[in-house]
Amino acid sequence: MERRAFLDFILKGAAVSSLPMPLVSCATASMYKVTFKGLDPQTTDLFQLMDGLSFELLIKQGDPISQNDHFGSNNDYTAIVPKSDGEGYLLWVNHEYLNPLFIHGKPSGVDKTLEDVHLEMYEVGGSLIELTRQDDGLWTIVYDSLYNKRIHARTRIPFSNGTAILGETQAIGTLANCAGGRTPWGTILTCEENYDNFYGERHPVDGSIIPSDEFGWEKFYEHPPEHYGWVVEVDPMTGAAKKHTSMGRCSHECATVVQLEDERCVVYTGDDANDEHLYKMISNKTNDLSEGSLYVANLEKGKWLSLNIEDHEVLRSNFTDQLDVQIRMREAAKLLGASPLARPEDIEVDPITGHVFVALTNNKPKGDYMGSIMKIMETNDDHSSMTFDYETFLTGGAETGFACPDNLVFDKKGNLWFTTDISGSSISKKPYESFGNNALFVVLRSGGDNGEILRVATAPKDAELTGISFAPESNELFVCVQHPGENSTGLDDLSSSWPGAFGEVPKSGIVVVKGPFLDDLLA
Ligand code: FEO
Ligand code: CA
Ligand code: CA
Repeated sequence: MERRAFLDFILKGAAVSSLPMPLVSCATASMYKVTFKGLDPQTTDLFQLMDGLSFELLIKQGDPISQNDHFGSNNDYTAIVPKSDGEGYLLWVNHEYLNPLFIHGKPSGVDKTLEDVHLEMYEVGGSLIELTRQDDGLWTIVYDSLYNKRIHARTRIPFSNGTAILGETQAIGTLANCAGGRTPWGTILTCEENYDNFYGERHPVDGSIIPSDEFGWEKFYEHPPEHYGWVVEVDPMTGAAKKHTSMGRCSHECATVVQLEDERCVVYTGDDANDEHLYKMISNKTNDLSEGSLYVANLEKGKWLSLNIEDHEVLRSNFTDQLDVQIRMREAAKLLGASPLARPEDIEVDPITGHVFVALTNNKPKGDYMGSIMKIMETNDDHSSMTFDYETFLTGGAETGFACPDNLVFDKKGNLWFTTDISGSSISKKPYESFGNNALFVVLRSGGDNGEILRVATAPKDAELTGISFAPESNELFVCVQHPGENSTGLDDLSSSWPGAFGEVPKSGIVVVKGPFLDDLLA
């Protein structure tokens, strides 16, 4: 068997069974033999790790990063990028949303002042922080570095190429920054996911504003919903940001970039909502994502459907121009027959096979409570292909021991790491009683324990683990703990105090994980 086909075969073996596969020999994939035992499900208010690992807290919400700025709320996507002078690293972190109770003391639903809303607006967006390693090997932040910056919901951000949306060439702020991606030229993509929770959404028929369920900022500012729901590109060296319309507007979970041989890029992105879709954009130019061709997946036909208005009469009769298609991308996708999916979240490309892995978290109205991880195989392994095959790689449930997969990352040996996102209000409740708190898992790629799934870490109460990134040049894993204590009903009724002592207000934060398990696995 060809090596690629062989590796594909052993990975596929993991899809149909979590039982150990026969011992195989392979030059490039991990030959890890499990000597450490994964965790059982946990329900504690701790960040717990399997034997062979330990962690340090790097930063938490509210920690100052400079004289003027602090670290925002609900950290999600992380990227660690080398500084252009080669001296050290910068850390980009997404801040997805916030808990009003923990920021100004008023829980959701209680009347807010403009001052309260300004405090909330600062908590979302992203942080840029210089990192350094101390002599003892610990990562720490460089307080007050010139690189340290916050981008938030009051930062002016232009649309790329001078595009105007509702007469404005720039948006006020970025928000709902969930997962993201990196470009080959060193910039960061940060994705605006549940944007409608902040300024609401445009009514598709009468054009009125449908109020947001959560933050109600539309009562204070008339910023158009059409200015949010985009993929935003950030230069980590300067903090300069631009919103791309080329990848359309939806609840973008992530933006995963693959470079083609001709140096154009393919960006895969999922729309994290029930029955929404999987998209890809093929850029027109090198080192530039501002223009390209946009497609949506039809799984039944194994086809990428063009979202170019010139290609479809049904688009020409329902949309005024291509920008209108991109602004109302969900409607266009449905008119063309895009496949409804179970909340497509993070996407990663297998470094060995090139297959595209998509986390499908769940689709409760359709009875899919456990979710799955899907594998897309582009025709001829060509990411610009218009056709593909797909299959289910892993299904959540009692047999596999996980439910609701969300963030994905491959390590350098091709092991697949993923986190789960059972919603805070569902943890330990039917049908999720047996899974305990949300967790970080690894699917071992090959060797004597090929396909085994280990629960590596568990989150404190109500939290999910997000933003998993491997450190450059070491066997350390950065992990975000997001929204501990989300179900707290008051400051005197906290459901978590992580990472503080009992009774302290819980805070999202980033931990750095290391130890012999990682050293052995990645050796
Ligand atoms: Fe923000 Fe889809 O997770
Ligand atoms: Ca997510
Ligand atoms: Ca999620």
